[in-house]
Amino acid sequence: MTKTKTSFFCQNCGTQYAKWLGQCSSCNEWNTIVEEIIQKEEKRNWKQNNTPKKVNKPLKIDDITIYKEDRIATKNNEFNRVLGGGLVRGSMLLLGGEPGIGKSTLLLQIALDVPKRVLYVSGEESQTQIKMRAERLSSKNNNCLILTETNTQLIFKAIEQVQPELVVIDSIQTLHTDYIDASPGSISQIRETTAELIKFAKETATPVLLIGHITKDGAIAGPKILEHMVDVVLQFEGDRNHTYRILRAQKNRFGSTSELGIYEMQGTGLREVENPSEILISQKDGDYSGTAIAATLEGARPLMIEVQALVSTAVYGTPQRSSTGYDTKRLNMLLAVLEKRAGFKLGAKDVFLNIAGGIRVDDPAIDLAVISAILSSNEDEPIAQNICFAGEIGLAGEVRPVNRIEQRILEAEKLGFERIVVSKFNKINKSNFAIKILRVAKVEDLIANLFA
Ligand code: TYD
Ligand code: MG
Repeated sequence: MTKTKTSFFCQNCGTQYAKWLGQCSSCNEWNTIVEEIIQKEEKRNWKQNNTPKKVNKPLKIDDITIYKEDRIATKNNEFNRVLGGGLVRGSMLLLGGEPGIGKSTLLLQIALDVPKRVLYVSGEESQTQIKMRAERLSSKNNNCLILTETNTQLIFKAIEQVQPELVVIDSIQTLHTDYIDASPGSISQIRETTAELIKFAKETATPVLLIGHITKDGAIAGPKILEHMVDVVLQFEGDRNHTYRILRAQKNRFGSTSELGIYEMQGTGLREVENPSEILISQKDGDYSGTAIAATLEGARPLMIEVQALVSTAVYGTPQRSSTGYDTKRLNMLLAVLEKRAGFKLGAKDVFLNIAGGIRVDDPAIDLAVISAILSSNEDEPIAQNICFAGEIGLAGEVRPVNRIEQRILEAEKLGFERIVVSKFNKINKSNFAIKILRVAKVEDLIANLFA
């Protein structure tokens, strides 16, 4: 047996130190450095009976064969889409997200759906709790085995018995390995257990899905190296008070990170939302002032969303500006542009802005709809229901072109809009579309078109 080695780690950022310090010099947090045993015994392998090491030979790229069906398509189409076509064999996936957002629900649903032998390991919930959750979900799979365990050596024992084709671990922060004495959730445990699981995944070509907790700033808890080690990092996000959830790839070694999956949390689990535009535009009869529809893109997916604005006379001295789902700084900028370029006296008005459906939008193409909604509320004049907007506003009040305009126009057309307002500077082949395309160069041109 080798000598026990210890080292000091910052629990916040994972930086390693040779001795204890009061403040981490990397992330400047106080009292986060803890001594951890990094190695107790010399040998660690996911298999108990140590098989002789296989030596890998260097190969020419032409000589490497790709095995057929190296992706496992789950029945969850949104999940497949985000992964770029299904789970790659031997890959390691990390799913992060706020507590209660639905991480366990999503992976249990996937585990119950795939027509494969699945081992679902939970360190957070008991078997009965998982059974109760599974009963709410409609899917059934007798090939899905549930195990409550946190010790990786015992998990690997179960794996050797069951021979699963897919392993789900809920969550990496609860796991611990015999070879390290640090407590579960500590930097060295997370790093070590992940390394063991990766070794297992690569050697047996079994995909492993990990759930990871996040810190209060939204990063995945544990060392940054965790994100480097795994092949795919997915983020499950959404507003807990709303039912929509967005699954986004932050890193994907086997596909693009611009794809995105949308789910709705229902009483019976997560429902895939195939046509998100229809649900994000609120159903209404009659015209209301202060709403405008924006043709945005979320990742690579066109999405029509409703922007709602309320402009009212300020009661207190300083007018209030608040927004939900949209950057408040950008809202202030747009209001300043309206004051300066279009002569609207919004300085003494409260302005509230809301993106319907509880989602957050960063796409600058929404600017035109934001301005339209504000003007509509200010004038108390509704905007026609069959018009939508896609354009960015510059500081000079110019309407700037946005990317993938044709995709946005196509989506608008598909959803039955009759007119779309875009920037004059976007190059568009009008003959491709039946929808009427209104091209504006300045905010003033928009105003002339808005209530006509
Ligand atoms: P959960 O998957 O436990 O979240 P996480 O693992 O990310 O912490 O999700 C829990 C929430 O989801 C809980 O607040 C209740 C809700 N939920 C439903 O609305 N419907 C369902 O069918 C299920 C299983 C959960
Ligand atoms: Mg959970």
